[in-house]
Amino acid sequence: MKSRYSAASWSRALILLAAFSMSRTLLAQDWKAPPSVVNRPNPVPANANTIALGQKLYVGNCMMCHGQAGKGDGPGAAALEKRPADLTARIRSGETDGELFWKISEGRSPMISWKGTLSETQRWELVNYIKTLAGK
Ligand code: HEC
Repeated sequence: MKSRYSAASWSRALILLAAFSMSRTLLAQDWKAPPSVVNRPNPVPANANTIALGQKLYVGNCMMCHGQAGKGDGPGAAALEKRPADLTARIRSGETDGELFWKISEGRSPMISWKGTLSETQRWELVNYIKTLAGK
């Protein structure tokens, strides 16, 4: 039986597909915090009280996109042009408190900047809470 598609057209399609998925991966991963914030210490001690405060903030402001467990699968995520980061994976791969705080503060479309809405202390409490989602 003769195939309707030539080997060349299949490999062209595969190359396009690979380039497309690579560019999507790069887009989602190239968000780097500036080096100056990486080692910024978290002034809010992580304890039961501050983690509970962070959880409350997370449920009210973040869960609709980032999902209950931080995997990026909240009910609002499907409508976004970019899938939210899997926070647990980022934290396990070594993202620091300073980097998380900076990203939460600055935001990047489609995520807004939270520094206008949440106080510094609240943003550090969120860092403490999302680290517990990653088992840290
Ligand atoms: C409208 C949906 C939405 C909401 C609400 C939202 N985020 Fe995001 N968030 C995103 C998306 C999408 C990204 C990925 C942005 C990118 O990589 O350009 C992201 C990225 C992040 C990152 C960076 C991940 C990394 O390591 O690169 C952190 C941290 C984060 N969000 C925390 C939060 C916190 C905390 C809240 C609540 C205060 C929140 N987000 C609310 C959609 C959202």
